[in-house]
Amino acid sequence: MAKRQDVQAFVIGAPVAHSRSPVVHGYWLRRYKIGGSYSKMQVNPSELAGFISDLRVSGWAGGNVTIPHKETILPLLDRISETAQRIGAVNTIWVEDDHLVGDNTDGFGFTANLDAGAPGWRDEGGQHALVLGAGGAARAVVDELARHGFCLTIANRTEKRACDLADDLAPGAAICSLEDVPLAGADMVVNTTSLGMHGEEFPFDMSDLSAETLVTDIVYTPLETPLLAAAGKQGCHTVDGLGMLLHQARPGFERWFGVAPEVTKELRAEIIADLETGA
Ligand code: ATR
Repeated sequence: MAKRQDVQAFVIGAPVAHSRSPVVHGYWLRRYKIGGSYSKMQVNPSELAGFISDLRVSGWAGGNVTIPHKETILPLLDRISETAQRIGAVNTIWVEDDHLVGDNTDGFGFTANLDAGAPGWRDEGGQHALVLGAGGAARAVVDELARHGFCLTIANRTEKRACDLADDLAPGAAICSLEDVPLAGADMVVNTTSLGMHGEEFPFDMSDLSAETLVTDIVYTPLETPLLAAAGKQGCHTVDGLGMLLHQARPGFERWFGVAPEVTKELRAEIIADLETGA
């Protein structure tokens, strides 16, 4: 794919002010000397259908889709990738031959983050992964882990949501409550809940974690969540969630601007500095 200059892309959501995506794509536009743009657009639910139909004629290359549009956008698109269909949510759209196409790159970001931070994590077959949470983000994580052949346990506050997730994406998965997680037997633990963002405690004893367990959190504010801090104390290898945010952005940038971008230490430092401003 050739580099495309003067292309415009966006992130739409409501609210959208907190989105770090413009910092990520802005960094890559500068790094690869592309004269395009990537902007934040507040699009309220009642405006989504109009925005999408205008998009076909307004010259946008595409963009990212965030809360609350990730599911409601599906019927408005011409084509949806198999991954996004399985997950039931879209986070990246682009125009291809006058068609609007939607994909979900959260699972790609999850896997690429672990490939970078814990090489070899998916090389052995039959490993056990414990996924905490069964919301939108958990769907992408469970889909990825099931595809990589992990045996799954899904622990969620609301059991029904965990059962529905297993039925949809990982039929053999075991279900348990957050109070009763089989920490000791897990090769990998992934937190997809919002627990830890505001210092909340997990309702289980972290001292059951084995030093052999790989522990990752998709929460990246704070960067060292209570789960990662406790896992570090147990001697576990840990991978923080910021890389998932950075890696999930790569496929969209390549679609819109024609360059496969790299996640560099400099990009990570720029986002951390931006998060620290608290804006
Ligand atoms: P996301 O798209 O980020 O996954 P979500 O779909 O709202 O957001 O899911 C949030 C997840 O965090 C869910 O698993 C939720 O549990 P429920 O399904 O029971 O709602 C979990 N979660 C949020 N706050 C929680 C809390 N205080 N205790 C336990 N789990 C919590």
